[in-house]
Amino acid sequence: MFLLHFLVFGAFVLHAGCYFSEEKFPEESKMQPPTVVIAIIARNAAHSLPYYLGALERLNYPKDRISVWAATDHNLDNTTALLKEWLTVMQKYYHYVEWRPMDKPTSYAGELGPKHWPNSRYEYVMKLKQAALNFARKRWADYILYADTDNILTNPDTLNLLIAENKSVIAPMLDSQGAYSNYWCGITPQGYYRRTAEYFPTRHRHRQGCFPVPMVHSTVLLDLRKEGMKKLAFYPPHDDYSWPYDDIIVFAFSCRSAEIQMYLCNKERYGYLNVPAKPHHTLDDDRLNFVHVHLESMIDGPPMYPSHFIHMFPKQRDLMGFDEIFLINLRRRPDRRDRMLFSLNELEIDVKVVDAVDGNALNSSDIKILGVDLLPGYYDPFSGRTLTKGEVGCFLSHYYIWKEMVDVQMDKALVLEDDVRFQANFKRRVLRLMEEVEQVELDWDIIYFGRKQVNPGNEEAVENVRNLVVADYSYWTLSYAISLQGAQKLLNAEPLSKMLPVDEFLPIMYDKHPNEDYMSHFPNRNLQAFSVRPLLVQPCHYAGDPQWVSDTETSTLWDDDSVRTDWRGSHKTLKGASPPPEMLSAAYRDEL
Ligand SMILES: *[C@@H]1O[C@H](CO)[C@@H](O)[C@H](O)[C@H]1NC(C)=O
Ligand SMILES: *[C@@H]1O[C@H](CO)[C@@H](O)[C@H](O)[C@H]1NC(C)=O
Ligand SMILES: *[C@@H]1O[C@H](CO)[C@@H](O)[C@H](O)[C@H]1NC(C)=O
Repeated sequence: MFLLHFLVFGAFVLHAGCYFSEEKFPEESKMQPPTVVIAIIARNAAHSLPYYLGALERLNYPKDRISVWAATDHNLDNTTALLKEWLTVMQKYYHYVEWRPMDKPTSYAGELGPKHWPNSRYEYVMKLKQAALNFARKRWADYILYADTDNILTNPDTLNLLIAENKSVIAPMLDSQGAYSNYWCGITPQGYYRRTAEYFPTRHRHRQGCFPVPMVHSTVLLDLRKEGMKKLAFYPPHDDYSWPYDDIIVFAFSCRSAEIQMYLCNKERYGYLNVPAKPHHTLDDDRLNFVHVHLESMIDGPPMYPSHFIHMFPKQRDLMGFDEIFLINLRRRPDRRDRMLFSLNELEIDVKVVDAVDGNALNSSDIKILGVDLLPGYYDPFSGRTLTKGEVGCFLSHYYIWKEMVDVQMDKALVLEDDVRFQANFKRRVLRLMEEVEQVELDWDIIYFGRKQVNPGNEEAVENVRNLVVADYSYWTLSYAISLQGAQKLLNAEPLSKMLPVDEFLPIMYDKHPNEDYMSHFPNRNLQAFSVRPLLVQPCHYAGDPQWVSDTETSTLWDDDSVRTDWRGSHKTLKGASPPPEMLSAAYRDEL
């Protein structure tokens, strides 16, 4: 064997020597990418793991240059089984997999709940991170990537992009539902978070680049080839350590003592992270937060995709106590239908899709045959035009739902249009609201879940029902609950023969429309109308947003097939003051 090897080698040298001047040498082959260890530390992460692992398996990085170090412990949910299922399939692709499951116990000493962090838990996490670091060092890995299991790296180039920056410790800025992210721009002398002027410009990417910061956490890449990195440790804390006992702060201190600068990059969108749950939160609270981030990612993108290698169980859906939930969707907008059905499934809500009446498919004579006539004197206050076909279609779509309710004597229903985004904890909020409405025996006909309040100002709060007000003049029909009595009142008004946009008709019926002339055509204006506040749904897009498309206002006039209209004349769908600031505030998010 040795001889043969020698001969082949010798022959090659000879050959090369002989043909030196005439023949081309094969070029030197490319360098292989650096080796990376990915450290996975999972606990009670069953809700996010499919998406987390899906993102890892999609990273554009050769898997044979990656080793996975995965530990899981103290679980109340199915995390161990899910992670094991994934690793079993994936181990043949990765260079090496180290698997450290620990089934018992399911909680730490002194832990008040799965989202509470006693020191024993911090200590255990530090030890795990240190064990992963030791593993990577022992294998002479070039890099180690730590990524928390609720950090979804939707950008498959994240690893390459971070490596290209050539920093010792670097993190990709991750997006969340709010202002929260995985970095600090300031730290107090005691090691606590300090507010700084740079935080928000960075978070909103008004300032873009890779910046030195005193703290990065959650998803962090360490370059182990750099000399200074030998001094870093997660555990035990540095001898001089007096800052809070918290794994991320201990590590930031370790970097500082080793004179290693942390960097944060926000040049691109790399992915999402979940806002950490409060100590008193349950696993379900955490899961609902994640569902919210997930649904938001479907609207503003980039979307998250689950792993192909984890089995996902079908959701248990229900009607939240309504007799029916109607989703109004134009057949030619399957994109919206799919997104809404997906979102509602994630929220575990059942719906019935109703085909919207497509105004654009109606010509003016069809419209007359349906018995539709314009309310005398109606014109759009902003554009000066009369009804569009889209508005006729929209009215009819809602009208047929009211009619169905009355035909089958349906007690109460929820109506949803197909371009809405759900507020966090949508389902829980709806359940609580409807329960309280029932408890106080409120006499209600409709309750707006999403609308545009026309005149900012205080509306009268409903006693003993949290988050409910008596509705003043409002636009939009994004989503509302409606009672049988309400549907009956709307039909009794015979609105088809004096039509105006449906979102002008409703305020007339509850006697809050500013135009007395319009109101005079409808003598019984006794609809009992309320609105949730803060709102439970918002439009996905506003007029003027790049992705905004209106099916009601971009069409032709109701009685003239040749006059094209578009939204630019109307202010109704513009963003204006929305979304109301209360929807963004932390206080509101944490209220449940
Ligand atoms: C836990 O996950 C495994 C792997 O996907 C699955 O076979 C099992 O049925 C799950 N158990 C529960 C209780 O969801
Ligand atoms: C990366 O940084 C090191 C210093 O830490 C430097 O020596 C090296 O040349 C840099 N590599 C590249 C490709 O810039
Ligand atoms: C309107 O469309 C119907 C078919 O939906 C057609 O029979 C009718 O001729 C059309 N009328 C006009 C004026 O185009």
